[in-house]
Amino acid sequence: MRILALGDLLAPVSVDYLCRTLPSLRRELSLDFVAVNGENASFLGGIGPDPALRLLECGADVITGGNHTLQTRAIYPLLEENPRILRPINFPSEAPGYGSALIEVGAHRVLVLNAMGTAFMEPTLDSPYPYLEKALSRYEGQYSVSILDLHAEATGEKLALAHTFDGRIGAIYGTHTHIPTADEQILPRGTGYISDIGCTAPSGGIMGVRTDVICHRFRTKTPMPYKPAEGPVVAEGILLDMDEATNRCRSITRVKV
Ligand SMILES: [Fe+2]
Repeated sequence: MRILALGDLLAPVSVDYLCRTLPSLRRELSLDFVAVNGENASFLGGIGPDPALRLLECGADVITGGNHTLQTRAIYPLLEENPRILRPINFPSEAPGYGSALIEVGAHRVLVLNAMGTAFMEPTLDSPYPYLEKALSRYEGQYSVSILDLHAEATGEKLALAHTFDGRIGAIYGTHTHIPTADEQILPRGTGYISDIGCTAPSGGIMGVRTDVICHRFRTKTPMPYKPAEGPVVAEGILLDMDEATNRCRSITRVKV
């Protein structure tokens, strides 16, 4: 099974870009499944129902989330109704939505998990470990392939969690920092891993945001409204080749479109 996972989608212009390119990308890369982290589709403010539904219509199979997802209240009903739109699994049970989903892909089912780290993250959530253990027990025997979008800041935290679940979750990839790392690997028990897959955002700025805004904020410590960078959109992510018979990762490759 060939799975494309794309990093944090930033700003409406990136949604437009993906809606234009995903159908042809699915054909060119012979993709079976596409996961997009959409927590910033409304530009650092979560994701609204319109971009979420558009992404699902144009070729995304699942939209994962992160610390910004619940900032857009309008998405709450969809988080409850549509299993293809996730928020991190370790939000309190009172929060709307779910952090796991079983999604059919031909004769197979993919278990998609979405969790948030706790180091240097706001809001500070419970440890993701018991939530992931519970989900793996709940869905045991019901899927061929499993993937986890681990939305977190610290590479050490991501690596520790990945080694803990090595061999039990087929692929674990980091999101949130917007900067891709070069540590893609297959862990000893067969889990595909990378600390961060990057972002799907306008280029020419700093992590998708206009350079002058970020520099001003760091240099003067005074506010300036965030604005998206103005270069062409670049989509960063990974291509996973997963063995449906074993839930092991055959290969993990960084992609940039
Ligand atoms: Fe984030």
